[in-house]
Amino acid sequence: MMGKIVWVLLVVLLFVQAVLAIDGVSVDRLNIWPMPHSVSHGRESLFLSKDFELNTEGTKYNDGSGILKDGFSRLLEMLRVAHVADGNFSKIDTSLLLQGLHVVVLSADDQLQYGIDESYKLSVPASGKPGYAYLEAHTVYGALHGFQTFSQLCLFNFTTRVIEVPMVPWTVIDQPRFSFRGLLIDTSRHYLPLPVIKNVIDSMAYAKLNVLHWHIVDTQSFPLEIPSYPKLWDGAYSVSERYTFADAAEIVSYAQRRGINVLGEIDVPGHARSWGIGYPSLWPSKDCPEPLDVSNEFTFKVIDGILSDFSKIFKFKFVHLGGDEVNTSCWTLTPHVKKWLTKHHMNESQAYQYFVLRAQNIALSHGYEIVNWEETFNNFGNKLSRKTVVHNWLGGGVAEKVVAAGLRCIVSNQDKWYLDHLDTTWQQFYMNEPLTDITNPNQQKLVLGGEVCMWGEHIDGSDIEQTIWPRAAAAAERLWTPYDNLAKDPRQVTGRLAHFRCLLNQRGVAAAPLGGPGRVAPEEPGSCYTQ
Ligand SMILES: *[C@@H]1O[C@H](CO)[C@@H](O)[C@H](O)[C@H]1NC(C)=O
Ligand SMILES: *[C@@H]1O[C@H](CO)[C@@H](O)[C@H](O)[C@H]1NC(C)=O
Ligand SMILES: *[C@@H]1O[C@H](CO)[C@@H](O)[C@H](O)[C@H]1NC(C)=O
Ligand SMILES: *[C@@H]1O[C@H](CO)[C@@H](O)[C@H](O)[C@H]1NC(C)=O
Repeated sequence: MMGKIVWVLLVVLLFVQAVLAIDGVSVDRLNIWPMPHSVSHGRESLFLSKDFELNTEGTKYNDGSGILKDGFSRLLEMLRVAHVADGNFSKIDTSLLLQGLHVVVLSADDQLQYGIDESYKLSVPASGKPGYAYLEAHTVYGALHGFQTFSQLCLFNFTTRVIEVPMVPWTVIDQPRFSFRGLLIDTSRHYLPLPVIKNVIDSMAYAKLNVLHWHIVDTQSFPLEIPSYPKLWDGAYSVSERYTFADAAEIVSYAQRRGINVLGEIDVPGHARSWGIGYPSLWPSKDCPEPLDVSNEFTFKVIDGILSDFSKIFKFKFVHLGGDEVNTSCWTLTPHVKKWLTKHHMNESQAYQYFVLRAQNIALSHGYEIVNWEETFNNFGNKLSRKTVVHNWLGGGVAEKVVAAGLRCIVSNQDKWYLDHLDTTWQQFYMNEPLTDITNPNQQKLVLGGEVCMWGEHIDGSDIEQTIWPRAAAAAERLWTPYDNLAKDPRQVTGRLAHFRCLLNQRGVAAAPLGGPGRVAPEEPGSCYTQ
């Protein structure tokens, strides 16, 4: 009897799964990436009128900074970039013409901060009711996401030679699953010129990523101007491979106007050899230059100066203080540091903790909450400030421990979400689930999201785009789309991701083909949609 029930249940389960799979395929044809929270559509078509316009009647948001207006201009550029829309509008029935997009932003506040409301609702009417599509959002940044989705509903019609919105009427209701959806860039291993960074920011917005983690400096070079300590950027590779303070402010503002926060990082006490080019006393000694000299008060004065300068331009709630891969040998090998350790009754691991906690306190004094790489948690998690977000990278299973300890976490496990690992496929990026083995809802809330990491050892302006895309997009859907709408098998989304990859190419982003591991060249002649 029991066996029979189990058998019936199995058949029912298989049937349900088959129906879901069919649903998955039909959802797949929608070609929106990342997949929204909910979507419905019809079967008719409308065309964008020649003077497709932004209408903001009834909106509380006055757009004094022009964020909405600029976002709309970029929407028009995105729509028009691929083809010259030279169709004859008088040949199109006026009842099929969409006059514009009516946008209502409910909040007057356009401060971009962690955790703001990014939701939006978008509707495009059926034909016969010409007029406006309607987009409503709490914040202007939700509206920008709505623009991205709208741009993906449109396509160029080669018969009428104007932009068409097929499958109207549309209703899209959307909001992100995670509030922290990041991409790391590394400007220490290779300098990235401003236009390269700006292109990366533009492409992040297409995939609704919202945090640019800027790993600015490291052992190899210190490209950023720090007004408080003007010799720090003596550690740049060359005079020209540097960012002025104004350059950094420009990056932050460029990103912010696209709804993207910039998370600045100084990685201490390891990963900091370049600091001592300008200020050699930051090194334990010339022959043993890393980690930064824990025994020298000047080290902490410099960190304070940097974070004080940071707080003038990096307005994100968080600053990243690194703290990973600290090899403390130079502290015990250098006589004056060793003497200091003895005097303060510290062994080297206690000194590592002392350093990280002191740097945390400096960051807190400048109004920041802190992100630290996971080694800090693994070594002295219970000593970290409760305002710490632990950044996982070494492997899986860490988020689970962090949230169980009541701290927040972002996930970047290197086996799945490191873009410089070229052998990691988009399918692995897609299937990496930040809430693996975390079932308690209160603990789930402590996982802020995740980040894909584009470490710069083998990447510069010549190959960064194709190393980031399309794999970062796979992670972007994981971070944006409700869990129940995510494909359980990446094969269900291959076509839709290929479509997004081709869309990136059409917009001038050098996204690589899907076939094979990261950054592959197209294998043979063929359509973009099948690569
Ligand atoms: C556009 O179409 C209208 C109506 O068919 C026609 O009268 C007009 O000459 C066309 N204009 C151009 C520039 O082809
Ligand atoms: C383009 O527009 C024409 C005229 O409205 C329509 O018949 C056709 O189906 C459209 N083409 C596509 C590919 O949607
Ligand atoms: C740690 O640093 C010391 C001194 O620079 C070096 O000799 C040693 O190889 C390093 N250890 C590791 C594991 O990298
Ligand atoms: C440092 O001291 C602490 C506290 O006595 C001890 O638990 C730890 O094992 C020591 N670490 C090393 C590397 O000696």
